[in-house]
Amino acid sequence: MIEPDAETGAQRWTLRTAATSYTVAVPGHGRWAELSAWGPAGVEDGPSPLAGHGRTPFRTAADAAPAEYLPFGLRPFGGAELDVRRPGGERGSWWSFTGERPAEAGALRLGFTDELLGLEAVLCYETVPGTDVIRRWVELANTGDGELLLRRLDSAAVNVPVPGGARLTYLVGQWAQEFQRKQVEIERGGFGIGSTQGVPGHDYAPWFAVQDAAAADGPTTPTWGASLAWSGSWHLDAQVDAGRLLRLRAGREPHEGEVLLPAGNTLTTPQLLVAFSPEGLDGLARVWHAYERTESRPRSLRPRPVLYNSWEATGFDVDQDSQLELAGVAASIGAELFVVDDGWFTGRVDDTAGLGDWYPDPAEFPDGFGAFVDKVRGLGLEFGLWVEPESVSPGSRLLTEHPDWVYAIEGRPATLIRGQLALDLGREDVCEFVLSMLDRLLCDYPIGYLKWDMNRPPTEQGRPGDPLPRAVDLDAGHVANYYRVLDALRSQHPHVLIEGCAGGGGRADAAAVARTDVVWPSDNTGPQDRLAIQYGFLHAHSPHVMSSWVTDHTGFFDTRPRSLRFRFVTAMAGALGIGADIRAWTPEQRAEAAEWIAWYKQRRETLHQGEVHLIGGPQDDTCGVQYSAPDGSHEIVLAWNSGRLAGLPLLPGRPDRLRLRGLDPAARYRNESTGEEFGGAHLLHAGLPCPWSAENDADAVVLRRC
Ligand code: DGJ
Repeated sequence: MIEPDAETGAQRWTLRTAATSYTVAVPGHGRWAELSAWGPAGVEDGPSPLAGHGRTPFRTAADAAPAEYLPFGLRPFGGAELDVRRPGGERGSWWSFTGERPAEAGALRLGFTDELLGLEAVLCYETVPGTDVIRRWVELANTGDGELLLRRLDSAAVNVPVPGGARLTYLVGQWAQEFQRKQVEIERGGFGIGSTQGVPGHDYAPWFAVQDAAAADGPTTPTWGASLAWSGSWHLDAQVDAGRLLRLRAGREPHEGEVLLPAGNTLTTPQLLVAFSPEGLDGLARVWHAYERTESRPRSLRPRPVLYNSWEATGFDVDQDSQLELAGVAASIGAELFVVDDGWFTGRVDDTAGLGDWYPDPAEFPDGFGAFVDKVRGLGLEFGLWVEPESVSPGSRLLTEHPDWVYAIEGRPATLIRGQLALDLGREDVCEFVLSMLDRLLCDYPIGYLKWDMNRPPTEQGRPGDPLPRAVDLDAGHVANYYRVLDALRSQHPHVLIEGCAGGGGRADAAAVARTDVVWPSDNTGPQDRLAIQYGFLHAHSPHVMSSWVTDHTGFFDTRPRSLRFRFVTAMAGALGIGADIRAWTPEQRAEAAEWIAWYKQRRETLHQGEVHLIGGPQDDTCGVQYSAPDGSHEIVLAWNSGRLAGLPLLPGRPDRLRLRGLDPAARYRNESTGEEFGGAHLLHAGLPCPWSAENDADAVVLRRC
């Protein structure tokens, strides 16, 4: 893999993914590694498009270089990925290359050492077979005698030449409006997003895409992307410099203060996943989808059951009669799993009480919870349960017995959010409690599905008695134990599917997704609002992880009424669930629901494992998601009258059109339900007719290749 350059003494390595290549060089001076080429396979075959980048007077060569990772010190002006010092010492590191370290096939490890400071850094790269994703991270070893303090400890820097300026695509939101896709063009200057909430948060997803702004955003635009696999506080900054190079830097946000790295210890940063697609944002989405399916195999191949969740129907008023009534209707329309959400445990009358005391409320389940679960299962449904293991309510037995288990700063008042406190999950005893509590529930009852929620970020994030800088890195400790519990659950209870949730989509980064089977993108289930949320979500995550319910909610932002058909087609874009109060549904509504559920069950494999094309968006009059069956035998098109038409046809007899993608122009495709046939070229160029009307505001079409 090494190609030494006779003239400059530089060494080069090329990482090859399924369809792309990524070439890194260490110049002869050995002070950093830099990007040489990144794009479609073979892009490295020629002079580097980044060579000699941005060298101008008044800044250092390190500031100008498309460097892969640099410490403050060596890179004084342009923003460094690592900011490190000894207590009482000067900030900065000036390291040099010590050589390639042994690595597995498809991986690369480049070592750098600062002997004066006592620091060794290894820049790590790993390709993921069958995908176009490269994982990048850094290992930092304290080789000196005393402690090292890290003010910044990014995972990687990513360089993209943008001669026409940068077009950035990112996902922004708030509670009930997560994953809104936004774009901004930057000719020069900076951009930054992140979270200090100890979870990725609702405001921004740790995900990002870059295109050269000179090229219109379309399905053939070269697009580079990054996604941070970290479920704690994070940041992602981008700068476009004078040489029209975009440099992205991402990693953990050490919000609580400098991170302490004791002598002899090694710290491994989270992974930054980077990817390139020549097929625009749509193609980049397919790269992330393929990655999520590959990484979680074989779990990703398990059919996601059609669930019913009782939260919107009964809220905290959970009792055996109401739940059994709901379960009966759910079973009759074809649901496969019944999930009892919040409110099933002792003391949980509202959101101010009960968390921590994870025992079913005997007053609400007088025949016993086991008997209740058996009755649900007797209806032919699997059983699922909601938990919020990282929180505790004031007045709970858990908090009375273990007042020291919550985050706290001595002498300071504790801030309540949603009436609850956050447990310090990084503590060994707290982690043991969570592990054994969940294990007990899963052993005591035949539970096949766990919804893990988290409804408050930690505040006053201290651990009394632990002086600053803390011997324990609280944010990382919490995240590490969150992963540890999930990993333990998956290995000890492999049949249990896990849904990740944090007040909606507050914790849906790549690492959380890798350890759960589905995630709940938002508490907003209103049809139009949900469409916009899911549209953004699918840019970063695969449909098989996108939990979605059909409810009667109108939404919060775009509350135009939409049909039951629209709501089913929307929820079927991912893992279908029902969350409405189906006791109140008419026989006609139940019959329609049963038809949709049966339709979905037959086709979910294509919906979850097929190649996705995101066609148009919720801002358009018509938008759709096209799923191509892995064997090429058929396409499923979910289409929505998403825009201003408000349910009315454009003109009678002149339907709106949705131009499909990725078809064979010479092939013919037959609409499975109407028998109508179309040429591939027609569907690609004229488009699939969508005859919208007030009753027909969404469609689910199967096109069989003839
Ligand atoms: C927030 C979740 O996002 C909801 O789906 C629901 O589980 C509530 N918490 C319950 O408190």
